[in-house]
Amino acid sequence: MGRSDIKTSITMTGTGKHAHLSQWKCPSNIALVKYWGKRDFQKPMNPSLSFVLQNAFTETSVELHKDGNRKVEYFFEGVDSPFGERIETYLNHISGQIHWINKYNFRIYSHNSFPHSAGIASSASSFGAMALCLTELDFIHSGKETHHPEFWQKASELARMGSGSACRSVYPGFSVWGKNQLFESSSDEFAMPLTEGVHPVFSGLRDAILMVDSGAKKVSSSVGHRLMDEHHYQRSRIAQAHENVNELYLALLTGDQEKFISIVENEALSLHAMMMTSNPSFLLLKPNSLELLNRIQHFREKAKIPVCFTIDAGPNIHLLYFQENEPDVKAFIERELLTFCENGKWIDDRINSLPPSPSEGGGEKIGIR
Ligand code: DP6
Repeated sequence: MGRSDIKTSITMTGTGKHAHLSQWKCPSNIALVKYWGKRDFQKPMNPSLSFVLQNAFTETSVELHKDGNRKVEYFFEGVDSPFGERIETYLNHISGQIHWINKYNFRIYSHNSFPHSAGIASSASSFGAMALCLTELDFIHSGKETHHPEFWQKASELARMGSGSACRSVYPGFSVWGKNQLFESSSDEFAMPLTEGVHPVFSGLRDAILMVDSGAKKVSSSVGHRLMDEHHYQRSRIAQAHENVNELYLALLTGDQEKFISIVENEALSLHAMMMTSNPSFLLLKPNSLELLNRIQHFREKAKIPVCFTIDAGPNIHLLYFQENEPDVKAFIERELLTFCENGKWIDDRINSLPPSPSEGGGEKIGIR
């Protein structure tokens, strides 16, 4: 059955071969204060703060069937994919919350707008999109309105159970995940959007993803998080993340670019410091990654243009800058940075625009193609 044959109505009352369908588009996100370390089931050791990207997203459609005897069929970019096994485990995990899950077979189609191993978290956008589909189907099943604010919280919680960072992808703009002193309603179970009061300068945030190495990840996220269980610096890392969430939020409110830059770089380097000092230790930065970091800092000092870097658990570098400096920074990338990127590759992205209402999400409903 091809995508064009999918039945377009969303109904939970159909039986037999009728598909119940939900489709969502969900962006990836990049953390500025990093989630690193877990406790219990998919709960973070420390709070994190991120923003969603505009051009890096996953589109997913979830069809429910009563026919057939395989529980989950997962097609990624049109091809039957082994990621289906991870989805199957995920569905088992959340079946305690969504009781109808075991009554259906799942046919899932998913595709990403960005290449694999590009330094963009595909599990965040994939589980974000998946969770939005499941939440919509669940709300329809129980007769609840999908525009209710609770919808986004539920989607964030379900996304978290697939991949921690995914819970931050269902909201537009910036969001925070993990219980912290700053926000009374913050939680380890789901993320919350930072919709109010963010200084307008940050709505022009740009992210140039400089691809140093597109090879497979040296350390999976789950292995990486486990390194924090026995880490010598665990307590101070947790304290640092709390402090950095507080300070960064203040910078976001006041439009303090200098403070923003110093916290963001401190977090990126701290994440890698944690990996370098864990047991076993991981050195994920490549010589070209270091070259890029040095050049970004040098450019900032010389050109007096506010640029900085963040890095996830890999060698690729996110160069963050602001809309007003776009021509200068793009010229700098072309002139000085591309030579350190694999085949000169980089991805031009930016923060996903802030919606008018806090009850609206970053994910958006997509039509049948
Ligand atoms: C370094 O969310 O990928 O990108 O919960 O095991 O799926 P799992 O981990 P994941 O970890 C992301 C780690 C990070 C930092 C961040 O996004 O906050």
